[in-house]
Amino acid sequence: MWGSTLPLCVIIMSVSSANIAWQQPEQVHLSYTGRPATMTVTWTTFSWTPSVVEYSPLPGPPSFNLTAYGSATLFVDGGPKHRRMFIHRVTLENLNPGQRYVYHCGSVLGWSPQFYFRALQVGSSWGPRLAVFGDMGNENPQSLSRLQKETQMEMYDAIFHVGDFAYDMDEDDAQVGDEFMRQIESVAAYVPYMTCPGNHEEAYNFSNYRNRFSMPGNTEGLWYSWDLGPAHIISFSTEVYFYLKYGLELVAEQYLWLQKDLQKATSRDHRSEQPWIITMAHRPMYCTNFDGDDCSKPDSTIRTGLPGGQYALEDLFYKYGVDLEIWAHEHSYERLWPVYNCTVYKGSPQAPYTDPTAPVHITTGSAGCRERLDPFFPLHREWSAVRIEDYGYTRIHIANKTHIHIQQVSDDLGGDIVDDIWLIKDKR
Ligand SMILES: *[C@@H]1O[C@H](CO)[C@@H](O)[C@H](O)[C@H]1NC(C)=O
Ligand SMILES: *[C@@H]1O[C@H](CO)[C@@H](O)[C@H](O)[C@H]1NC(C)=O
Ligand SMILES: *[C@@H]1O[C@H](CO)[C@@H](O)[C@H](O)[C@H]1NC(C)=O
Ligand SMILES: *[C@@H]1O[C@H](CO)[C@@H](O)[C@H](O)[C@H]1NC(C)=O
Repeated sequence: MWGSTLPLCVIIMSVSSANIAWQQPEQVHLSYTGRPATMTVTWTTFSWTPSVVEYSPLPGPPSFNLTAYGSATLFVDGGPKHRRMFIHRVTLENLNPGQRYVYHCGSVLGWSPQFYFRALQVGSSWGPRLAVFGDMGNENPQSLSRLQKETQMEMYDAIFHVGDFAYDMDEDDAQVGDEFMRQIESVAAYVPYMTCPGNHEEAYNFSNYRNRFSMPGNTEGLWYSWDLGPAHIISFSTEVYFYLKYGLELVAEQYLWLQKDLQKATSRDHRSEQPWIITMAHRPMYCTNFDGDDCSKPDSTIRTGLPGGQYALEDLFYKYGVDLEIWAHEHSYERLWPVYNCTVYKGSPQAPYTDPTAPVHITTGSAGCRERLDPFFPLHREWSAVRIEDYGYTRIHIANKTHIHIQQVSDDLGGDIVDDIWLIKDKR
């Protein structure tokens, strides 16, 4: 009996699948707009639907008595099948700082499961807790299960994913991107998931990156900044320096924007509220990995700029007193001493990270992907303080205006903390 009906079922299903209306929301994720008391919900459907989020405060049973509306954009992947999907964006406004909310997204044509989040605190007198990493893929995402659990335990206020997603989002006509966004939903639907582009997003002029995420500003997430507690966070693209075919003018545009943003961030009023300036971008200025990457060269492009020294970032960040620079790209963890122009500037020999006079660099690109880990060069560089070749990620607690706690979690060692420093500035 089954033997004869099953093939018929399969035929009917495959015929009718062409007519299925794909209105069910999926790939739900959150991001912060940079404006206090807001949160943006982004998701995907494969047919057009309205874009609605219903939400209500917790605790208690969800009443979903608050409603916010947004809109959908059509994203057509650049691959041979030109797959089409609708990316929905809705921003919730007037959230109560610190309040937990339950939400679902979609429309009367279909609702997502329910998720929850805690609205970010406002002002500068709270201590954001972050999980930070780059280079996490669909295959071998070794740290993801630990991040899922810790996010659901409410250990983090936000996640920073410092470029290189899915490996790669455009593959298989962007189905790898879809699957990756489903994979991270268990993290990204609960806390804002903040991003910058990496080299693996390059296909079709970074279109999967630019379309799938919803970052602050008007550059489709290529460069933007926002305030988080006592820190000013700047996210930018190192990739504009390497894919000049997409526009040399992008290097100049971003550099001018960085200059302006740093000027504002270092004005007296701003810096007294947000004394910390933290950058995140994919490819490091310095590294000691054994792979010939830009950062392993004495005059890396990101550090010293395009030929002739144009748009050099190290001088810019040094000039404005950037405190902490977060990078990825290398599949390992490396912490540098405070460094400028390859010279170490410790606060003092006893307390190198107390009032350092140059930026501190952390490279954290070993969350896990199909390319495995990157080994280190056997030689010592005097600016390199700690090197760990393990799968893991970084916890950053911006405790207050004078203290930042940085810890490296080793997933290989069952979640052990394998590096632990306090970055302190109480003189400047
Ligand atoms: C909405 O529902 C919540 C419970 O989920 C309740 O506390 C609140 O008073 C309701 N607000 C309005 C405007 O009905
Ligand atoms: C690539 O995208 C950027 C916007 O992100 C745009 O300014 C640029 O002109 C595009 N380049 C090409 C070659 O299409
Ligand atoms: C950087 O170091 C190099 C080599 O030590 C030196 O020639 C150069 O003048 C330094 N640049 C600055 C801006 O200090
Ligand atoms: C800032 O945080 C550090 C570490 O938790 C603490 O020792 C210090 O007292 C805090 N400073 C203020 C002003 O709260």
